[in-house]
Amino acid sequence: MTLNTENTARGCFITLEGSEGVGKSTNLAFIQQWLEEQGHQPMMTREPGGTPMAEEIRELLLSQRDENVSQKAELLLMFAARAQHLDEKILPELARGGCVVSDRFTDATYAYQGYARGLNLDWIAQLEQLVQENVRPDLTILLDLPTEVARQRMNKRGTTDRFEQEQSEFFDRVRQGYLTRAAAEPERFAIIDAGQALEQVQQDIAEVLQGFFLQRS
Ligand code: TMP
Repeated sequence: MTLNTENTARGCFITLEGSEGVGKSTNLAFIQQWLEEQGHQPMMTREPGGTPMAEEIRELLLSQRDENVSQKAELLLMFAARAQHLDEKILPELARGGCVVSDRFTDATYAYQGYARGLNLDWIAQLEQLVQENVRPDLTILLDLPTEVARQRMNKRGTTDRFEQEQSEFFDRVRQGYLTRAAAEPERFAIIDAGQALEQVQQDIAEVLQGFFLQRS
């Protein structure tokens, strides 16, 4: 599908970001419920993944393996999955005026492959341009939590994929990467303190969503 600013401007594209253990799943369900209560029919999706082929790429990316995974291969697979996800799922939904909510998107690539792995941010920007052209999220909700607290929550979950095996310093860099991106684009990002009581976190998210839709009306 070709990208078209006029079409994509009609829908709304919201992304949820944050390091592991910040409570993305719980709050994603809250966002869905909030949107449905307001009369939207959000298309909930995730990255890497979102379509059968992109989910297969996700499996490749998250599975533990004996060989070292090339950082460039990891970066390109993230964007390969994203290209498929955009063309097959996100763009058609935006074009028909729908509301797409994605659990992670390209800010995760900047945070994980860029800031945490140390890959050149300009390469990521070039791939972003190639794959997405003019498509960017309208609103990005960043759940922020000190790395140690997030790590304790993550450890309670038990399972570990290839990313969750990384050391604390890696997740510190992920967190700082997200915060740097948020500081550079304050009009798109809303930073939520995920260390508060869940009720307060969700109240803050509801206020952000309310403000977002008010601004668009
Ligand atoms: P999830 O656990 O939130 O589903 O995400 C899967 C992992 O993929 C998570 O550790 C973050 C990582 N990831 C990247 O490294 N780069 C990306 O671009 C995306 C979307 C996810």
